[in-house]
Amino acid sequence: MKHNPHHPMKSTEGMVDYDRNSAAQQQMVNTQAGRLSDLVSALAPAGPEMTIVDYGCGPGSSAIEAVRPSIEASRAHFPQLPVSVIHADQPGNDWNALFQLVSGPSGYQAGPGEIRTSAAVGSFYTQMVPANSVDAATCFAASHWLSRALELDAPGSVWFADLEGEARAQMWAQAREDWVTFLRCRAAEIRSGGFLLVGTLGSVPDETEVNGAAASGRGIYRALQVVAQSMVDDGLIGKAVLDRFVFSLWFMTGQDARGPIEEDAQLMEAFAIEEISVTPAPGNYRDVFGAYAGDPDDYARRYRGYIRAFADSTLRKQLFEPAAADAAGADKLADEYFDRLEELYRTQTVKYAFELWHLLAVLRKK
Ligand SMILES: C[S@@+](CC[C@H](N)C(=O)[O-])C[C@H]1O[C@@H](n2cnc3c(N)ncnc32)[C@H](O)[C@@H]1O
Repeated sequence: MKHNPHHPMKSTEGMVDYDRNSAAQQQMVNTQAGRLSDLVSALAPAGPEMTIVDYGCGPGSSAIEAVRPSIEASRAHFPQLPVSVIHADQPGNDWNALFQLVSGPSGYQAGPGEIRTSAAVGSFYTQMVPANSVDAATCFAASHWLSRALELDAPGSVWFADLEGEARAQMWAQAREDWVTFLRCRAAEIRSGGFLLVGTLGSVPDETEVNGAAASGRGIYRALQVVAQSMVDDGLIGKAVLDRFVFSLWFMTGQDARGPIEEDAQLMEAFAIEEISVTPAPGNYRDVFGAYAGDPDDYARRYRGYIRAFADSTLRKQLFEPAAADAAGADKLADEYFDRLEELYRTQTVKYAFELWHLLAVLRKK
């Protein structure tokens, strides 16, 4: 396993039209609105502020929706407490887009009362805000990104779920360590009585799968592999590069998420586990874009948009740039890649459908 310090994960850097292509993330956030409101209402905040932090906030309207229920519940139940909202993400996040939304017509600053908005810039695998300062912490569709890009001996697969043997063991070791690090950092930041709600993509037990679990997006990642292989076959990207490439992410099962907490004395001392679950996403969890399958052109365009929004920057850095002479060459390869992907979805439609299970973890700081 090789750590390349020049390739830290920046999963939305250069994200393409994030807001328009993030319906699945927005749904995940909206699904938890009632839960968040209940969690905040039940707090006994010590003050002097109600501090709400959204980790891996991203640039889009889901960053607003992630904090809105907490703001509203705080105002309703603790009207005397000023509210501080901290959006936390990496330097490459589109901060201008985010803060325009925050102050725009659908942003929370348009509502009544004063709210202090700020940003915490860095990695959520480090401490991002002062110790013992957070009442309500959320992290949506972000904690599955590992702390660094891995290069593994992984021919035939671009993602964790189809890895076997040593490569899978190496990747799980990193994913597990990252999950523990993420939680230890939050344990330091959250005040006693405060909570952390993590919602992201999960996996469920499935004996037909090589590793005994069906992971969210398995159709998508297999489509990404098929297209990457076709580019290798046509001499457009290097075989050796593809053989070592994997997306640096892991979608945990409930047990993947629970085990490392229960086996870590520090985390068990810090947190009470209120819930860890993996459930089908509301709607068509067997094909998030299934409603459009009757029109293959539309269906394929939606898949292209959704996939490009999260995969473009990773593929560019790790597959296209090594094969291209310059930035223009990498752009051309990226366009070719996503043209092929769109064609695959147009001709095969539901074969590579996006299945989605939500992983939810709610932890209470003791
Ligand atoms: C798919 S977006 C999700 C954005 C938003 N939370 C949502 O639900 O739509 C993933 C976000 O996680 C952020 N992210 C990934 N790794 C991170 C890290 N180590 N530290 C902080 N943010 C990270 C990315 O920069 C990106 O904005």
